[in-house]
Amino acid sequence: MTRSTHKIPIGVLISGSGTNLQALIDACADPAFPAEIAVVISNRRHAFGLERARKAGIPAVWLWHKPHPSREAYDAVLVDTLRAHGVQWVCMAGFMRIITRVLIDAYAGKMLNIHPALLPAFPGVDGPGQALDHGAQVAGCTVHIVTEGVDAGPILVQAAVPVLADDDRDALAARILTQEHRIFPLALRWAAEGRIRVDGDRAHVDLLPGERRSFLVDA
Ligand code: GRF
Repeated sequence: MTRSTHKIPIGVLISGSGTNLQALIDACADPAFPAEIAVVISNRRHAFGLERARKAGIPAVWLWHKPHPSREAYDAVLVDTLRAHGVQWVCMAGFMRIITRVLIDAYAGKMLNIHPALLPAFPGVDGPGQALDHGAQVAGCTVHIVTEGVDAGPILVQAAVPVLADDDRDALAARILTQEHRIFPLALRWAAEGRIRVDGDRAHVDLLPGERRSFLVDA
């Protein structure tokens, strides 16, 4: 298959360790990958993800939310920063902020989020912990298009993992995280190649032969 050498500039929003960011950095390092990271923005100054970005030679911006009078005012600065770097798609990779219409409208249908649960089950904080608390026997992760509402929006791809009898929260979260690193670059590829179409609450993806939108991982 011939592929354009033009890479779509993306912005990645983080708050923490940035292992998902690292998965995206690694994917983008492939010359054939259709996206490149133009900027990484963290609301937390010491987020390790900023170090990962700097190490990869990617502009890393600490944008503190505290000085801004409202969520909307903060999001307006986020949008300015993303636009200043030419960002066309935004990946939320562990960005621990509730976002507003200011950001969602600026990148309508062009924001991806990764969540450590099989949405629509267990949105919000600590998906793995919620799964354990409910005695769920299967857990997993989801990449979806961002719309208004916490962890809401059309689902693009999911990976399911078993919950094992002796799992604690961290063991389950780690099993899920491994799959997050697998599905996030995949969804970004679809986005950058213009293969996603949203129809109401559902997303359609033009899959290539052999591609799939669900992964079921055995123990
Ligand atoms: C991941 O579990 C992601 O799904 C959630 O926050 C966590 C971020 O982890 N939204 P990392 O910073 O990518 O390691």
